[in-house]
Amino acid sequence: MKKVIVSAPGKLMLFGEHAVVYGRPCLVTAVSQRMRATIDLLDEPVFQLNAPDVHITNYQKAMSQVGKGGIPRGAKFVEIAVANFYSSSEAKRSREVQNDNSSRQARTIKSNQGIKVTTSSEFSSQFGFGSSSAVTVCVLKSLSELLGIHLSNKELFKLAYKTVLDVQKKGSGFDVAAAIYGGTLYFVKAGKIIEPLQINGLPLIVGYSGSKADTVTLMQQVSEKAKKDSKAIENIYSEIGRLVTLAKIALLEKDWETVGELMNKNQEYLNALGVGSPKLNAMIAASLSEGAFGAKLSGAGGGDCMIALCPVKNKQKIAKAIEKAGGEIINVQINAEGVKLET
Ligand code: MEV
Repeated sequence: MKKVIVSAPGKLMLFGEHAVVYGRPCLVTAVSQRMRATIDLLDEPVFQLNAPDVHITNYQKAMSQVGKGGIPRGAKFVEIAVANFYSSSEAKRSREVQNDNSSRQARTIKSNQGIKVTTSSEFSSQFGFGSSSAVTVCVLKSLSELLGIHLSNKELFKLAYKTVLDVQKKGSGFDVAAAIYGGTLYFVKAGKIIEPLQINGLPLIVGYSGSKADTVTLMQQVSEKAKKDSKAIENIYSEIGRLVTLAKIALLEKDWETVGELMNKNQEYLNALGVGSPKLNAMIAASLSEGAFGAKLSGAGGGDCMIALCPVKNKQKIAKAIEKAGGEIINVQINAEGVKLET
């Protein structure tokens, strides 16, 4: 039976979190730690999932029930991605049939076949590296390879972003773009702009706070805050958007001092939005006290990771200071390759 393996990178938000959900741009980079999905075609009409990183073992249901009924939390992104893939590929197939273009007709799964999905990750789902988006992208890409239904990156983005919205209702899609395109991107919500940037040698340190952020809850908190004081919060979003534009230029010019200052400013605005945390702020302060150009949280806030931009000569000292403040250093390379077929 046929098998396909696909991998996609995790991500780190460099600038612009939260404001990006409200139409401002952000900067995101793909990281070297990857998510992997293996899909096997089965000769019985069942959907099977093993995703040990999110505590799903031997989950199984009839193919006809995929996307329906109760879905365990850890299985949601994969199962909804599979359901979305089948409904969109059916639509694509029927369009092709209508166009009488039978030579381009994709293979489809036969009614007596099923799939077995196995996922594994090189990074913990606790880090906030975008494991949900990465796994969604891997599953959609591997299904398209398995069934010979070509998806352009744009189509893949559209389906993966739809899946993320189906599951968590809100989000910009920046993490989906990082998983698909890789590299470092200037991004605007829903993929309105996805611009690859040539950024090399960014001397970043990543520190994990030890707790997982719940992105949906944090987005909800920010939107509640905005309901109470919409003018002030809109103003913060716009200021963050302005920082992103300046950071893009400074990053391209390798002007790390300016990038660092902009990170500090971005962090002030994130604290004003209420998504900082004492632990993240302690790790950030520790890195700055040992000479980091700048530091900020990365992602939804409340937990997950912080990033510090460091003069190379101070890297060791800064890493030690972050550890002393209770953080765990995560070794990652940035600008990683986007989604790819492994077999
Ligand atoms: C979460 O990592 C970043 C947010 O901006 C959400 C999103 O952009 O989807 C809070």
